[in-house]
Amino acid sequence: MKTVLVIGSTGSVGKAALTGLSEHKVITANRSGESADHAVDITSETSLKALFDTIGKVDAVVNTVGFCEYATFHEMTDQQWRATIDSKLIGQMNVVRVGTEYVTDGGSFTLISGILSVKPIPYAIADATTSGAIETFAKCVAFEMPRGLRINVINPTVLAESWDVYGEMMPGFQPVPSTLVGKAFQRSVDGFISGQVLTVDA
Ligand SMILES: NC(=O)c1ccc[n+]([C@@H]2O[C@H](COP(=O)([O-])OP(=O)(O)OC[C@H]3O[C@@H](n4cnc5c(N)ncnc54)[C@H](OP(=O)(O)O)[C@@H]3O)[C@@H](O)[C@H]2O)c1
Repeated sequence: MKTVLVIGSTGSVGKAALTGLSEHKVITANRSGESADHAVDITSETSLKALFDTIGKVDAVVNTVGFCEYATFHEMTDQQWRATIDSKLIGQMNVVRVGTEYVTDGGSFTLISGILSVKPIPYAIADATTSGAIETFAKCVAFEMPRGLRINVINPTVLAESWDVYGEMMPGFQPVPSTLVGKAFQRSVDGFISGQVLTVDA
């Protein structure tokens, strides 16, 4: 049994990740602290440091947080780009940078991207761009991780549980059940792979 920190545990992807981690001792966190063990803001190094100082060492960190703004490229404001980049790219990189010293030898990080990085749709340019960037980050930083630490990214298509929210934007996409996405998180946490993007598509 491992101790696994799941950030964004109350979101759709966070709940999916939890389905794959039931064998482990899970510590949950989200921004509000509601229905989670801890509150944290991944866009703040100070907040992340405070969380890790409170919980101490863990064997794995799973981040499912990545806020995205949706608009066409020509409508997207500088502020909307920065909000997306601050969360889905720099926020996730913060989790790794701040969290590294708190993860036990041979432990792992698992981050989130999304299928729109390889299957573009209208209005999702910020999601797609930051998803692609976090995948490149993970592939590269895997070579720099100390003490046998591993890092992977889960790239799911739309969850069946999120179809009501995103389905209209995604004609022709086939949603997948969250339990299938949970398996990918399990494979990242319990396996030995590193620097990989685990795609979950139908
Ligand atoms: N849903 C899908 O079908 C799907 C498919 C592929 C990829 N994705 C990607 O997965 C990511 C998460 O999507 P989701 O649908 O799970 O979102 P969601 O349902 O809106 O959940 C967001 C979660 O993240 C937390 N959160 C938000 N901002 C935070 C911050 N700055 N620091 C810490 N926690 C924060 C929220 O906590 P509070 O509730 O307390 O604010 C909540 O737990 C996104 O990047 C999305 O593009 C989603």
